Amino acid sequence: KITPVVLCGGNGTRLWPRSRPEKPKPFLPLIGDLTLFEATLERCAGESSFTRPLIVTGDAHVPHVLKQGGTGQGVGVIVEPMARNTAAAIALAAARLPADAIMLVCPSDHYIADVAAFQQAANAAAQLAAQDWLVAFGIAPTMPETGYGYLKRGEPIEGGYTIDRFVEKPDLERAKAFLADGGYSWNGGIFAFRAGFFLEELSRHRPEIAAAAIRSVELGKEEGNLFHPDSDTFAQIESESVDYAVMEETARAAMVPASMGWSDIGNWQSLRDARKADQAGNRASGVVELVDCNNVLVDSDGPRVSVIGMEDVAIVVDGNEILVTSMSAAQKVGKLQSIKS
Ligand code: GDD
Ligand code: MG
Repeated sequence: KITPVVLCGGNGTRLWPRSRPEKPKPFLPLIGDLTLFEATLERCAGESSFTRPLIVTGDAHVPHVLKQGGTGQGVGVIVEPMARNTAAAIALAAARLPADAIMLVCPSDHYIADVAAFQQAANAAAQLAAQDWLVAFGIAPTMPETGYGYLKRGEPIEGGYTIDRFVEKPDLERAKAFLADGGYSWNGGIFAFRAGFFLEELSRHRPEIAAAAIRSVELGKEEGNLFHPDSDTFAQIESESVDYAVMEETARAAMVPASMGWSDIGNWQSLRDARKADQAGNRASGVVELVDCNNVLVDSDGPRVSVIGMEDVAIVVDGNEILVTSMSAAQKVGKLQSIKS
């Protein structure tokens, strides 16, 4: 069986004003009726293949996690004393699980349209993980996105490929070269590991992170469904993502190709693209009137929004905050002073 390990870290500031520190992105129903977190759990459900999920998150998100994860068989939660990025977060989960557990590490803020394809890829990845491969999900790239990791496919192995090269967040020039090369996939940010082997590889490449994570679990305390790793030990860990700390370094990286309608809901543009469009490419939710608009996203939680003659813009109304941005600038929402108020 596969143990889903769901990471709930970031706040999703680039989806301001809908996403805010008190109601962060994973816990909002941004596409369809389920929140991204609920949809993540639902994708990893089914007693024949999956165990009860283990969530790794910070204090602030625990109430959301318990509320939205409380249905079904419930969830186990590791409460990080502070954020130390994904290498440490995954190490905590690995140290809590038996060495032979197959972990499926899932970000809680992605959208996946084709659940059956996801589960098929997860099963293939689990088989490889059981043979001590560190398995990434490869997504066919469509643009030279610099916010992702890139995987160069190597030899075919059962159910996937070895990875010749893993490059996290290349600059634009390299991303363009990878796209032109044709032999690269995006890293989907979902991984399958055997818990004990992940810790071995982390110990090989980042011994301090591994040792401190293991120690903070040894010294940790259980409180019902919650587990609190030791804070003083965990605080010493360097913040580094699993992509740099392990995936770029290991000689045992493999990937399964996953064609599953994957989208990292990183900003209003990718959210627009993941939502269903009308004939003019518009996505409207709330009370909205559009005249002569194309590829416009309007999302209002109250006031009626009327738009004429616009193209490729996002208009978002949340309480008394309004955001208007061109799609091409949607990544820059983080630059607003308003998001801090
Ligand atoms: N619990 C916990 N603690 N979760 C964390 C932490 C942390 O300290 N830091 C990040 N996360 C969670 C985020 O909430 C997200 O769900 C996931 O881990 C990945 O972190 P991001 O910060 O979103 O990473 P990224 O988007 O820059 O890059 C990763 O994902 C890309 C695909 O979306 C990398 O794996 C890339 O290689 C990949 O292409
Ligand atoms: Mg991300």
